[in-house]
Amino acid sequence: MRPALLLLPLLASLSALAVTPTAPIPSPALAEQLQRGETTYVLACAMCHGDRLEGVSAPELSGDDFRALYRKLPPRALHDLIRDTMPYDRRGTLSAQEVLDVTAYLLRENGLPLPEGSLTRDTLDQVNEPDPAPTPDQAPAH
Ligand code: HEC
Repeated sequence: MRPALLLLPLLASLSALAVTPTAPIPSPALAEQLQRGETTYVLACAMCHGDRLEGVSAPELSGDDFRALYRKLPPRALHDLIRDTMPYDRRGTLSAQEVLDVTAYLLRENGLPLPEGSLTRDTLDQVNEPDPAPTPDQAPAH
């Protein structure tokens, strides 16, 4: 018996479960973007922020505080932070598309709202799912 090998399918299905119950099925364009974003994350971010976004030498990119902060902000906030300051040791090395992709990946992994279709320069300020319980000062001013 090789217990580690037996665990692999289980881990794969667990990580699939982590995203699917709440998030709607992504459009094909979004599914591709999330795949690219995951690749960028693994190659450029995971060494400091952890394979599961849990934080290693750098802060976690998940958890209640992270979610609470970025739930209140449009995708642009996270996008611009990554574009301007990350990867911490090699800022400015990601392409514009890679920044969009990895932003979408982080939002999705945290169950945070993403615009319809994929995340593009034109949808950075757009959020589909309004905060379920906006407080009076956060209510959108339409
Ligand atoms: C060399 C290590 C390193 C790498 C690689 C790295 N980061 Fe970071 N990251 C940090 C550190 C350190 C901080 C905290 C910076 C600070 O507090 O000023 C940080 C902070 C962040 C934050 C802000 C977290 C918060 O709580 O607001 C985000 C988002 C982030 N990184 C995303 C990324 C992404 C996406 C990548 C890959 C493209 C990446 N980082 C690559 C070290 C790294």
